[in-house]
Amino acid sequence: MDYSFPRYLLSKQSVDDRSLNKDVLSALRANLPQEPFRIVEVGAGVGTMVRRLVRWDVIRRAEYVMVDEMTENIEYASEWVKVWAEETGLSVERSGENQARVFDKAHDVRIRFEQADVFDFIQKNQEPADLLIAHAFLDLLPMPESLTKLLSLTKGLAWLTLNFDGVTTFEPTIDAGLDAQVERLYHETMDRRATGGDSRSGRHLFGHLQEAGAEILAAGASDWVVYARDGKYPDDEAYFLHFILHFVEQSLTGHPEMDSGAFAKWLRERRAQIERGELVYIAHQMDFLVKR
Ligand SMILES: C[S@@+](CC[C@H](N)C(=O)[O-])C[C@H]1O[C@@H](n2cnc3c(N)ncnc32)[C@H](O)[C@@H]1O
Repeated sequence: MDYSFPRYLLSKQSVDDRSLNKDVLSALRANLPQEPFRIVEVGAGVGTMVRRLVRWDVIRRAEYVMVDEMTENIEYASEWVKVWAEETGLSVERSGENQARVFDKAHDVRIRFEQADVFDFIQKNQEPADLLIAHAFLDLLPMPESLTKLLSLTKGLAWLTLNFDGVTTFEPTIDAGLDAQVERLYHETMDRRATGGDSRSGRHLFGHLQEAGAEILAAGASDWVVYARDGKYPDDEAYFLHFILHFVEQSLTGHPEMDSGAFAKWLRERRAQIERGELVYIAHQMDFLVKR
């Protein structure tokens, strides 16, 4: 299988659409200021969130800065905007190499694509946004020290979504002991990443946000729940599942506590379960809407 990170992010869209906590989203809608407003999204990947917010009619007139450190993601985002905007019936106009305007009579969204490490971006950013978005991102950063820096990017709201929170489940059971060991060791790798990360970031954010002086306006679960209907996964979700197993494989291959033969057999069986439409995957995550 060809593992492409941009394709993984695209395959994740339908899973995230279901998962995002709709009470927290309602609170976001209710608290947004009068348009036009300015949004900064950090760790924005290929730009699936700006597409979602336009499709879900959350934003119509906005300046939207999307920041990601991976050149491949930003290049993809800058090309892909034409595709999704036209599919949505919107016109697209280039304004400079790293900017696009997506518009029709009711919409005018000006998107800037910034390839940068988020902390470098924070240092040079001049104008705080009305809304900061970090989607599937905070659990990768050193906490709590990153939070104050990130919150300096907003003068109002922050919508912090899909923060992983300590539960990964693959069903049906292959071997209860081995399944539990894979889950435990996989979570430990998230806690030991040199660049930061927390396998229980969702629950820990309650305390971290309070310490950073942010008021929690809404919070709730945003679990990924992936399963087949009539033996088939919707959209590109079979690819999404293969990519999750690829992460698990990359994280645990060569781990001193893992029996390599048993792990290879476990991966083969999980992959076969995807092909048969049997694998159910659940990851517990949490969303927050906060005010500075
Ligand atoms: C799990 S992905 C989520 C991407 C996107 N939010 C989505 O859900 O489709 C995390 C993203 O954060 C980016 N990233 C990781 N560390 C970063 C950093 N220090 N500065 C900027 N981006 C970073 C990665 O390149 C990746 O695109």
